[in-house]
Amino acid sequence: MTQLAEILHPEKPSDFKLSYDLPMQMSLFPRFRYMGSKFRLLEWMYSILQDLPFDNAMDAFSGSGAVSYMFKTMGKRVITNDSLHFPYVLSQALIQNNSTRLSNEDLDSLLSARATSMEEQFIQKTFSGIFYTQDDLVFLDNIWVGLRKLTSPAKRYLALAALLRSCIKRQPRGVFTVSGIGATYDDGRRDLRLSLREHFLEQTAEYNAAVFSNGKQNAAYHGDVFFHDKSHVDLVYMDPPYVPRSDDNCYMKRYHFLEGLSCYWRGMEIMGSSKVKKIRKPHTPFGHRGEAIQAFDRMFRQFSDSILVLSYSSNAYPDLDCLTHLMGKYKKSVNVLRKPHRYHFGTHSAAKRNLVEEYLIIGSE
Ligand SMILES: C[S@@+](CC[C@H](N)C(=O)[O-])C[C@H]1O[C@@H](n2cnc3c(N)ncnc32)[C@H](O)[C@@H]1O
Repeated sequence: MTQLAEILHPEKPSDFKLSYDLPMQMSLFPRFRYMGSKFRLLEWMYSILQDLPFDNAMDAFSGSGAVSYMFKTMGKRVITNDSLHFPYVLSQALIQNNSTRLSNEDLDSLLSARATSMEEQFIQKTFSGIFYTQDDLVFLDNIWVGLRKLTSPAKRYLALAALLRSCIKRQPRGVFTVSGIGATYDDGRRDLRLSLREHFLEQTAEYNAAVFSNGKQNAAYHGDVFFHDKSHVDLVYMDPPYVPRSDDNCYMKRYHFLEGLSCYWRGMEIMGSSKVKKIRKPHTPFGHRGEAIQAFDRMFRQFSDSILVLSYSSNAYPDLDCLTHLMGKYKKSVNVLRKPHRYHFGTHSAAKRNLVEEYLIIGSE
């Protein structure tokens, strides 16, 4: 397969250049700014994973979908899962979908739809003065009217994925923990100057370009990792959330707006006390010190028929010794691969820069 010498990704929290040895298709992945994304580690992961014997893989905590997309470019049949809905939409758009793209007629129809009833104007009524400009909010309501008219679910997911990426690009710090409307933060970034409509036009083109078939029937799921059976996959990749140092680590807290937007807040409970209209966060045992060890044990047992690949980090709880011991209960061979890594993710004025050691813990046989 064609290899890429170098790819530039200019819109990152900090611009950086990756020297890549990944399949060429990977350069078309619309990178999604997401807490804990393994995008920067893909080259290293690829160099390790390509030597393992597997034809299909489950990305059990898919998040931004970067790892799933890499598996897809490797020609593997991919199953994705995440407990949040918007990562599921991202996976539907580019992992399950092998061929559907948005046509000019689809775009015309999406862009000409208008929200007229009260129910259709939920976003502009609820988030006015909290996120985005009023024009942006009206645009989101209008697009949702258009989305409901799209008869093809694959097209709807693709358009929604483009809309989600538009929203994260236009949001000053890429998170929804504090309110903030573009102009307040204007630091000259193009992403903050473009309207959501302009972003959406660019993103639909990017998502259309990123659709490809690897000849496999890939599938996206949405649910708790423990709802999956002992699945018949050769390899399970696990990248669970870490026990947080502060509440700031919560995915729902950071991305509640995207989660709501991905289904027009249908069936979601907005917390009355929340200034930014957060959705109540779901419980995950991986986020709690008192439950995490038991959760890892249960997960390794559940997937013990597959090759286990766990992404982990030196600053997380439980520690490496504990995890290798737990995996060793179900696998004869447990190998740890290490890589120094600097995370860039900030919610406050200065980005937090954490130098950690990243691990891939691999259990086989
Ligand atoms: C570290 S992130 C995954 C990042 C992903 N590998 C990437 O590269 O973008 C962890 C993900 O686990 C999801 N999650 C948390 N608890 C879960 C559970 N019990 N079952 C499934 N997914 C869960 C979160 O919604 C989040 O997207």
